[in-house]
Amino acid sequence: MRKPFIAGNWKMNTNSATAVALASGLVKELDSVDTVDVSVCPPFVYLQSVAAALSASNIALGAQDVFYESNGAFTGEISCEMLKDCSCSYVILGHSERRHIIGETDELINKKVKAAISGGLLPIFCVGELLEERDAGKTMEVVESQIRKGLDGLCKERVQAVTIAYEPVWAIGTGRTATPQQAQEVHAMIRGLLETLFDKNVAQAMRIQYGGSAKPSNTAELMVQPDVDGLLVGGASLKVADFSQMVKTVA
Ligand code: 13P
Repeated sequence: MRKPFIAGNWKMNTNSATAVALASGLVKELDSVDTVDVSVCPPFVYLQSVAAALSASNIALGAQDVFYESNGAFTGEISCEMLKDCSCSYVILGHSERRHIIGETDELINKKVKAAISGGLLPIFCVGELLEERDAGKTMEVVESQIRKGLDGLCKERVQAVTIAYEPVWAIGTGRTATPQQAQEVHAMIRGLLETLFDKNVAQAMRIQYGGSAKPSNTAELMVQPDVDGLLVGGASLKVADFSQMVKTVA
């Protein structure tokens, strides 16, 4: 059985006070939950203060990106070692905002996924189609290509560090959630692809999150889908009440 995994992507939100208040509020609400893996991913600059607020809790810390080199002249970048040093367990990679606003390519994301695993981090590897790609009937093709390229070169043992997050771009921050059937259809395709690329055991063990306007009111209907193993939550993860309600619904 795959343990459900709910992660909060805080994106470029919070400040030093509200980040700690959000983390502390979640610790209070969620401390007795042990049937769901929970993680929050604050901006880099608040990782250490959020880590302190989460210490001795079940909530894991994640970052929103990482660079693939371990140190040196890479102005503005952050390494896996630095994230580990700040108590991070997870790192979000290939988020659609980094693909489409910053211009990250599949090749760059693949380097980051491999570096993260080698560096002892657990990647949350994001994939998802644009609205025009869905409307053109290309959803499966786009997602399959992102997964093949993003996981290229990984063996069965190493790929199991990865959580895949299916985030249809048209559902992110729009209030327009994919229907549970739309999510399940893509998640099932992804699991089938993992079986083709690796094997059945790997495909059955790996977790696939859904992301895109996930909120308390649609958590249950998404999570009952057989191949939806968790959620990557944006806006609703910035409110203690909403995010903790989502985790409790899943628990
Ligand atoms: P929203 O939940 O705000 O739609 O964001 C989803 C997301 O991009 C999480 O990574």
